[in-house]
Amino acid sequence: MNVSDSQRIEMGLGPLGYSLTDTLEQAGLIIINTCAIREKAEQKVYSFLGRLAKIKADNPDLLIAVGGCVAQQVGGRIVKRMPHVDIVFGTHALGRLPDLVQSAQNGVRPIVDIDFTTALEDRLAPIDPGVAAGGISRFITIMQGCDNYCTYCVVPHVRGREVSRTPAAILDEVRGLVAAGVREVTLLGQNVNSYGNKEGLITFARLLAELDRIPGLARIRFTTSHPKDLSPELIAAFGNLEKICRHIHLPVQSGSTRILKRMNRRYTRQDYLDKVARLRAVCPDMAITTDFIVGFPGETDKDFEATLTLAAQVRYDGVFAFKYSDREQVPAAQFKDKLPEGIKQERLGRLLAFQDQVNIEKNRSLIGSCQEILVDGFSKKKAAAGSPRQWSGRTTTNRIVNFSVAADGPSPWEPVPGQLINIRIEKAFPHSLWGTPESAGRAAAGVKGAACHAV
Ligand code: 5AD
Ligand code: SF4
Repeated sequence: MNVSDSQRIEMGLGPLGYSLTDTLEQAGLIIINTCAIREKAEQKVYSFLGRLAKIKADNPDLLIAVGGCVAQQVGGRIVKRMPHVDIVFGTHALGRLPDLVQSAQNGVRPIVDIDFTTALEDRLAPIDPGVAAGGISRFITIMQGCDNYCTYCVVPHVRGREVSRTPAAILDEVRGLVAAGVREVTLLGQNVNSYGNKEGLITFARLLAELDRIPGLARIRFTTSHPKDLSPELIAAFGNLEKICRHIHLPVQSGSTRILKRMNRRYTRQDYLDKVARLRAVCPDMAITTDFIVGFPGETDKDFEATLTLAAQVRYDGVFAFKYSDREQVPAAQFKDKLPEGIKQERLGRLLAFQDQVNIEKNRSLIGSCQEILVDGFSKKKAAAGSPRQWSGRTTTNRIVNFSVAADGPSPWEPVPGQLINIRIEKAFPHSLWGTPESAGRAAAGVKGAACHAV
């Protein structure tokens, strides 16, 4: 979500003549887009701003802006503590940032805008498909905010109430991006599964069906799903719709029903496992990833063992695990029985070590298989001098696959970013796969999930 917001900030400032620089010293405007989800966020911002004070001393015309969730939370206190900050803009002020920057250029500073706005379209700086082109994959915000109030979470406080965009606005945006060359969209929201519920719009599964029909769009991803709102209709969509990637990020947070209750997650361990089973019944090779919080206040050894057994039962395709951290304003901050740092660290280490093992086993099991990937571009790894260029793409299950193409074979060709191709997997690493291209994927073959056959 923050990456997406940063992209929108960049696009919104383009018309004022701003573009990205490589170094801080070259910049006329420095924007810090902050995240408040875990602790130390505020301290990190202050220490970075401290560094910027020196740069501003050498370049008094430099404008400095702080945005995002920390800005929303801390507001005017930032400029009191750091007088060299010119603009503080909250999570609903993204669309207003170009005006705020213009005012600051005209000498109005400091400016603090942390007002909550009700109209979502006003909050979002518009995406300009012309500017957004150039990438094959783009984020589309379909909703913002959250009404769930998990007891540990600061999001409802800093992003505000849940609000969904209209299907028409979303479809127009996606069509514009596809016309500009985008091949994959990732729909974003704190809880996309409850899309439109409050406003009485179409369901999320229906929205996916509409997007699935857009010609030229190759893949649709979305994040994040809340297990309590994962509907049978949405589970069925994974089987019915061609472009939906076979991956779901389904944060579980804990394997203990007792802790889930204290977290206000509104599902039990068994509810969660049932939904996983239903997803896998529709799509046996579905990739499932998750978030865990370890060391939640009151988490006993037994509760943590339940988290480990759940991880073992589901065998996730990827895990983000975090030590519980206290946030201001949230109910869990008042809970007694906080755990010592050492225990949290030890539990985190055990969970991650277990998952590392699963990751490598799952990746190894793909050796010899054929995977359709969407080519994104050159691999980040530098090719040795004289050897062919390395390319990179992702499977529908969101695994990174690197490959190279012999430049001097009988029919030399170069892949094109945005192309779907089939790759025979030869090597497995903990976080990526390596293989050899075999044939064009379904886009070229014109059939769903083209079988592997040599070309
Ligand atoms: N402490 C630790 N992790 C947290 N998350 C959210 N709030 C906290 C917190 N106070 C994690 C959750 C969520 C992810 C985005 O961040 O796992 O799914
Ligand atoms: Fe936070 Fe819970 Fe909302 Fe996710 S669903 S953003 S964890 S309150």
